[in-house]
Amino acid sequence: MTETANILVIDDEEAILDSCSQVLKKEGFRVKYAQNGIEGLKAIIEETFQVVLLDLRMPGPSGMDILTKIKEGNPEIPVIIITGFATIESAVDAIKRGAFDYLAKPFSPGELRVIVHKALESRKIYFENIHLRKELKDRIQFDMIVGKSPAMNAVFEMVRRVSPTDSTVLITGESGTGKELLAREIHKHSLRKESSFVVVDCGALVETLFESELFGHVKGSFTGAIETKHGRFEVANGGTIFLDEISNISLNIQAKLLRVIQEREVTRIGSTKPIKVDIRILAATNENLAECVRHGQFRDDLFYRLSVVPIHLPPLRERKQDIPLLVGHFLQKYNIKTKKSIRNISSTVRKALSEYNWPGNIRELENTIERAVVLSADDEIRLEDLIYHGISSSFSLLTPVGGKYKTMEQIENEYIATVLHAHQGNRSHTAKALGIDRKTLLSKIKKYNLS
Ligand SMILES: Nc1ncnc2c1ncn2[C@@H]1O[C@H](COP(=O)(O)OP(=O)(O)OP(=O)(O)O)[C@@H](O)[C@H]1O
Ligand SMILES: [Mg+2]
Repeated sequence: MTETANILVIDDEEAILDSCSQVLKKEGFRVKYAQNGIEGLKAIIEETFQVVLLDLRMPGPSGMDILTKIKEGNPEIPVIIITGFATIESAVDAIKRGAFDYLAKPFSPGELRVIVHKALESRKIYFENIHLRKELKDRIQFDMIVGKSPAMNAVFEMVRRVSPTDSTVLITGESGTGKELLAREIHKHSLRKESSFVVVDCGALVETLFESELFGHVKGSFTGAIETKHGRFEVANGGTIFLDEISNISLNIQAKLLRVIQEREVTRIGSTKPIKVDIRILAATNENLAECVRHGQFRDDLFYRLSVVPIHLPPLRERKQDIPLLVGHFLQKYNIKTKKSIRNISSTVRKALSEYNWPGNIRELENTIERAVVLSADDEIRLEDLIYHGISSSFSLLTPVGGKYKTMEQIENEYIATVLHAHQGNRSHTAKALGIDRKTLLSKIKKYNLS
């Protein structure tokens, strides 16, 4: 950018125009001149300039007025004021009106070079900031939890009340109902919001690794422990720890977790020295934990400790009023992501989206809209764009063939095939969308000979 920068000099004094031009051209810049403010403004409309050098005292409108006009229309252009009547007051005034800096005549070629390079740099930062701010805005906007059903309003009310406290919250709900999003929301509205939010997926690691992941270990405490490691509880110190899929933890780790909750301290594997931790615990599960307790798979004392405040996210099929709002939300999100501007969704599509039962809940709805946005050829989403998902095929799935109704197995077979296809064969995503675990999915894929 620096080499090809286009610079406009607005000054009525030929000598200044000449010397600026010489110095700046030597730097590899392109230089244009204007003899007065009006000409200068015209040039700015016709061409893009990266920097403007502006004389304060010229015939016609004053440099100050021209400065104001330039900044109104082009806040990104740094304007360097040059004047022969250098006084502190006019400098301060110009900078108050948005000038980048001030150069007093006579100035040396070196001074000019330095100030122009600085101005170019400031322009770059201006654009970077705009970009960051926009990204931040998009992120904030799309991290939002959307919903207006009575069920979601009750959830929002709970979040409002519980966020500023340090209470442990147990979030329950089927896969894809927004448990993690809700946990983040609680953290965002808590007093710990400036500290970290640490997610632990309790189903992801084998027992021994998981234990050291949570509590850390000291060097040499087991084979492979070549370095001392801080556990996630230590990392989350001062902030919030989110224990996702909590039903997956073993009884052994449940006992250790209980101790952490009661004592608010962790002991690294291989150490005897407990470390104090200041943490807020949020947990989530798509299993019925009370049921797990009854089956002896989950400690009742831990269950009660975790579910101080239980929040249940109902499945999407029980809050269909939220569907239009969610569709609009995801449409906007993926329009921005894909730089499209799809505004129209035909009434058939709206109806199909509202009637479908969404076994994969909001995640499935989001994926469906994302794919429809990607697939749509113009500014409308049609039923064909939903073709790769459970939806449009759900009609054919349920349609009797030759007057004969399908068996449950036939429907299951066709449905799994449809959802697998919709997830490009990705089994984890398919299992999630179907709300079953991966093992069950794999056995069904084998049973129906799907691939
Ligand atoms: N109410 C909502 N408004 C907007 N987006 C939502 C809402 N609920 C969920 N989402 C989005 O749906 C997707 C799935 O949500 P999330 O990962 O929080 O679900 P989950 O309940 O944790 O699922 P799983 O049990 O499968 O881990 C995310 O992209 C999330 O941003
Ligand atoms: Mg989750």
